[in-house]
Amino acid sequence: MRSHGKSTGQVVTRAAIASLALITALSACKTESAVTDVAAVGELRPARSVVFDGAVDFALALPNERVLYANGEDLVLVDGMDRRVVSSTSLLGDLITWTVIDDVALLAGRNGTFALRGSDFFRSELASAIDGMNVTSLVSVPRRGARDDLYIAHQGGLALLRDGRLQDISLEGVTLSAPVIGSAPFFSGRSLWVSVPAAMTTDEMSEESPAGALYELAFDDDDALTASKLAIDFAPSQMAADASGVLWLLDEESGEVVAIELSRTPTRYRFPFMVDSLQASSAGPDSWFGGEGRLFHHAAGVFNEVEGVDRIRAVGADGTILSGSGSLERRAARHPATWNGPSTGSVLVRTTSYEIVLTQMSAVESITANIDGEEIDVTSDRSVSVDPATLESGAHALEAVIRYTDGTLPTTARVVFEIGVRANWNDDVNQVYLDHCSDCHHATGGGRRLDRAEDWINDFDQILINVKEARMPLGRDALDSKTIALIEAWGAADFPADAAAAGGSTESAEE
Ligand code: HEC
Repeated sequence: MRSHGKSTGQVVTRAAIASLALITALSACKTESAVTDVAAVGELRPARSVVFDGAVDFALALPNERVLYANGEDLVLVDGMDRRVVSSTSLLGDLITWTVIDDVALLAGRNGTFALRGSDFFRSELASAIDGMNVTSLVSVPRRGARDDLYIAHQGGLALLRDGRLQDISLEGVTLSAPVIGSAPFFSGRSLWVSVPAAMTTDEMSEESPAGALYELAFDDDDALTASKLAIDFAPSQMAADASGVLWLLDEESGEVVAIELSRTPTRYRFPFMVDSLQASSAGPDSWFGGEGRLFHHAAGVFNEVEGVDRIRAVGADGTILSGSGSLERRAARHPATWNGPSTGSVLVRTTSYEIVLTQMSAVESITANIDGEEIDVTSDRSVSVDPATLESGAHALEAVIRYTDGTLPTTARVVFEIGVRANWNDDVNQVYLDHCSDCHHATGGGRRLDRAEDWINDFDQILINVKEARMPLGRDALDSKTIALIEAWGAADFPADAAAAGGSTESAEE
């Protein structure tokens, strides 16, 4: 039943369980959480996009809109239109926890740990390494330019798998027994949050905080693991973070939820019902709170009561939810929309048109667009025109807000573009000529003249090729990218002679 043939790409040195560098810089602050009574501002009716039929025991929302669900004996993978049985539920046993690490889904069940890559469901070295650890929770934390970190919470403590090395994490003065873990985005990356019941802490804080403690673990610039401690007056049973970095903690005893903001200030939320499940995705703004047959949604400080969803099974990285008890449905708080045009980070040099692409064309109430908050016109074919001449150089945000009448939340689509250099002949390109070309391309040399704007305009493409390929200036250092960008910007702006011609006109030079 166990095949060892396949690899997740992770080679795990199981033997080398070394304790991780001692925790330093343990700072503490005590939480005095303000209590806020939650009132729903309105009703949210999440849009339904897909229905998967068949009874569902559990469902996982995998990246790229893939879904893995348990239907009786079958573990079914849904990938677009394709639906196939990848394994049996009895092989896995009851699902305990799962995560996605380096594009491989890792599922820990009662009968062992398995990996799912593509539609291959298999035992992997990684899975074998964490088997037998009595895993309670797996959390992967992406690292820039490196393999994801995998944090493994188990009955006996906390371990980290980094670059194939499995290491125990120990906190000074703290017994990490059955910790509850979660990860949240924060200022410069991501941190791991670990909560332990207070009985397990032996440091001086424990008397003041009888019920629990929360540790924020992060790697500093030198890759040393540091921890700071937040004293909390309860032991959270669930935690989840949303994309704004808010960490939500469930206090099962009171049925209340404590939110820890980026500023590390906690707020206690009292719902009109006992919350027994909280869900969020660190890729989106949405958080969901369920209990007593009711469901509330939170985004950007606003709570809404959710209608038409009986039970959330999973929250996908894309913010969609899988819900339902009989059959499974994919729903989202809002209809997605995107900008079709130069992608985020593009430098605009000429008047450019962006088009709003909607996934839901009916029930549209209004479409507005703005640049840096300032409203701009949207044409009937949902396009806007951005004229660089009307904007300061630097980064600008183009945003569309689409409102619907079907009970979903307004959709925002955002793209950031930059207005690059502005150039004219007198101030800029003539100077490039004088600095880099005039020795050889002057008026009386008998060769190619480049001392007049018209010479540059006539040979523009050829000049660009020559400077980009560093053939010109002949025998000298190539022009730097800024200087080349200046020449390009001058051409893109239609060769203005001077500053007045370059910026004075607000008329857009339509293509
Ligand atoms: C050290 C002398 C020298 C300098 C400096 C120089 N060039 Fe040239 N360049 C030449 C010579 C020699 C040729 C070949 C004869 C010709 O085509 O005029 C040439 C040719 C060219 C050509 C035509 C190449 C082709 O593909 O046929 C272009 C365009 C050009 N130069 C642009 C520039 C620009 C723009 C600069 C300044 C950024 C520059 N050159 C600086 C000497 C120079």
